[in-house]
Amino acid sequence: MLIRELNLADAGALRNLRALVDAAGTLGPESERLRALTPEGIAQQLRPPYETVGAFVGEKLLGSASLYQYPVDPFDLFDVPWFALAGVIVHPLACDQGIGRKLVVCRLNRMQELGAHGVSLVVNVPNPAAMALYESLGFQSYEVNEGAYVHNGQRYDEVTMRLQFASLSPTGTESP
Ligand SMILES: CC(C)(COP(=O)(O)OP(=O)(O)OC[C@H]1O[C@@H](n2cnc3c(N)ncnc32)[C@H](O)[C@@H]1OP(=O)(O)O)[C@@H](O)C(=O)NCCC(=O)NCCS
Repeated sequence: MLIRELNLADAGALRNLRALVDAAGTLGPESERLRALTPEGIAQQLRPPYETVGAFVGEKLLGSASLYQYPVDPFDLFDVPWFALAGVIVHPLACDQGIGRKLVVCRLNRMQELGAHGVSLVVNVPNPAAMALYESLGFQSYEVNEGAYVHNGQRYDEVTMRLQFASLSPTGTESP
């Protein structure tokens, strides 16, 4: 499996993957999900400030994950760089093979290269696979927005999770 940065030439493959995962999973409120599938929404994920990587087997894109940095206030001496992890998706037929973990660890390592102090993300629950993945890497739930939105008749909570890098070793496991 190859993990490489995606660019605008990958837009079609990313859109197809996103649409497939979206049909099977919980990727947020309908307005956000629909926007993410538009040409502008896909292009946004492939341009700065986003950095998106994809996992390929041969020519086939099987997963992707994005990062971006929250704006730092230049007038706040105590403001430190925080990043967001977003768009973590794996093809439904390629789940449970370690691809999601590899993609997330790749993004966390990149954030650390960029000097990140920490990272946050939003999970729409119930999503036991995503929660277990993030918790295994040291993320902790920080805020719960109960019943944030309805999808297919089911109400979902949004859980914000975060991780400070001081507690993460280069291998992606928590330091003592
Ligand atoms: C969440 C998702 C990205 C995980 O990707 P994956 O490639 O299947 O994950 P991995 O195989 O790398 O597994 C990593 C960890 O996730 C957890 N996990 C994966 N599948 C799981 C499942 N079905 N139930 C519970 N935990 C699971 C485990 O902790 C696993 O660690 P382990 O291998 O040490 O047991 C994938 O299921 C997905 O794309 N889901 C739909 C989109 C989505 O919800 N994205 C997250 C948005 S926040």
